[in-house]
Amino acid sequence: MCGIVGYVGPRDSQAILISGLARLEYRGYDSAGIAVIDAAGDLDMRKRAGKLQVLRDDLAAHPMPDGTTGIGHTRWATHGGPTDANAHPHLADDDKLAVIHNGIIENFSELKAELLSLGYTFRSETDTEVAAVLLGHEYQASGDLVAAFRAVAKRLEGAFTLLAMHQDQPGLVVGARRNSPLVIGLGEGENFLGSDVAAFVEHTRSALAIGQDEIVAITPEGVTVTDFAGEEVSVEPFEVVWDASAAEKGGWSSFMAKEVSEEPDAVANTIRGRVHDGQVVIPELEGLDDLFTGIRRVIIVACGTAAYAAQTGAYAIEQWTRVPVSVELAHEFRYRDPVIGDDTLVVSISQSGETMDTLMAVKYARERGARTLSICNTQGATIPRESDAVIYTHAGPEVAVASTKAFVAQITALYLFALHVARLRGSLPAVEAADHVRELEAVPAKIQRVLDEEQAHIEQFSRWMADTQSVLFLGRHVGYPIALEGALKLKEISYIHAEGFAAGELKHGPIALIEPGQPVFVLVPSPRESAELHKKVVSNIQEIRARGARVIAVAEEGDAAVLPFADEVLRIPLAGPFFEPLLAVVPLHIFAMGLATAKGLDVDQPRNLAKSVTVE
Ligand code: G6P
Repeated sequence: MCGIVGYVGPRDSQAILISGLARLEYRGYDSAGIAVIDAAGDLDMRKRAGKLQVLRDDLAAHPMPDGTTGIGHTRWATHGGPTDANAHPHLADDDKLAVIHNGIIENFSELKAELLSLGYTFRSETDTEVAAVLLGHEYQASGDLVAAFRAVAKRLEGAFTLLAMHQDQPGLVVGARRNSPLVIGLGEGENFLGSDVAAFVEHTRSALAIGQDEIVAITPEGVTVTDFAGEEVSVEPFEVVWDASAAEKGGWSSFMAKEVSEEPDAVANTIRGRVHDGQVVIPELEGLDDLFTGIRRVIIVACGTAAYAAQTGAYAIEQWTRVPVSVELAHEFRYRDPVIGDDTLVVSISQSGETMDTLMAVKYARERGARTLSICNTQGATIPRESDAVIYTHAGPEVAVASTKAFVAQITALYLFALHVARLRGSLPAVEAADHVRELEAVPAKIQRVLDEEQAHIEQFSRWMADTQSVLFLGRHVGYPIALEGALKLKEISYIHAEGFAAGELKHGPIALIEPGQPVFVLVPSPRESAELHKKVVSNIQEIRARGARVIAVAEEGDAAVLPFADEVLRIPLAGPFFEPLLAVVPLHIFAMGLATAKGLDVDQPRNLAKSVTVE
């Protein structure tokens, strides 16, 4: 979490830093701050607790001198509460050095004790200030910011991206990273650093990805990247495919509203270029056939919404490839000593490509000899760089903290992956595979129909439910992870208690929660495609209905069996069983958004959360 931006060049940096922070605010919004080296050569700093707007207002009311070298930070609090004092930047070396940080420095108390014994004092409770003071101490010794960084980076334990500038070295911003994101943006006579490309995409699309344990120094004229030992290293250039305007709200009331409306495109763009003559061929996986043909097992690791995408995709992967698939939360996976080896393919899913738990799970899997594939939405991110192969979802930038369009794109990528592997392994008759491809290609238009035909209805009834205290979600088979996703979305943005259950589990406990008026969403499988499951779910509906539940059924068009027992029916177009989840989740996203909006909440920046969780 935390967003970081740095700039050196001919332009005044405040506006560049603030607009970069606006694009990174999804990473954390507990406080924001900037520092610049002004024309007189002095270092000026301003930081405020609260969202970026508080800092903006403060700068408008009390302007600060501008300058052409600057760093900016938006925080998700770890060490120390969200106060002005704990906000970044942190100053050291007689306030001539400014430092910002993303991550957690695990040995900060030892380092702090050491620095206190040397007579240094601290103004915040943060681990970052310890790094700043240490950096100032080292700078005193060498008078060289890069050399000071090298000395400090070696002493820090944990995960960090640190950016710093010193007023005695204007025109220079230095950064270091370990297990935390940092990318470089290359401009004409100016250069940028950012937690991700969103920080600078409005200025340049030419970027460099920095590896682990590396230090980068940017000046207006150039970029130097070295390892912690000081050896120069080569860096990987890439072109940012995102359009700057794609990360703008446009005319939408929120990023979430915009991103839900983009769900059809997210699916269509993820499929594009990966189907040839009715067959799935993923160009990025060319030459990597042995990664998929020799495996005996697939484990998918992810967190949050991505883990529900994993659970949804797992059904199809196993069925189509006949390779056993399991899904694990990344943070559970690596602490249980799993049995894995070179016949295991560990697939990670992450929108940001930076989730620390997922990254650590990938590293853990690689260290134990497993093959790794990542499904990721963000170019230049760490997880794909740490994996043997990557399938990018092409959902475009997702800014709202609650993931929506990335979710449908992730399921789409998993289906493409399953069909690609099934082709290589010959595990699925060509006719059947072609049917699935056709179904997948039809999904974007069907999602669009759900949006066109159901959105107003769902928004209206979510307003009626604004006072609801608790909502349950039930599903079977692929409907089960969708129930979990529906509940997560509601918790995340409306702060209402919500639980998702496997409908078959109902009688083993959750039915005790049902009392008159309890709203329960039920994902109803297709009666045509899954007659058996459909009957079971209709029975489940009757069981809860008999106990007073208020039933909201998400059912395919024409399914009349649910009508007598449902208080509301949200319709989705007909689709094959694996493709229903891509449609059924859309009403749940709209519902969560509608309800949170009706409660007057900020759907883009829910309390306590951050979009990219880069600490464990
Ligand atoms: C956070 C976000 C969720 C997201 C999860 C995984 O918890 O709030 O929306 O699903 O991280 O993020 P990733 O970037 O790895 O998909």
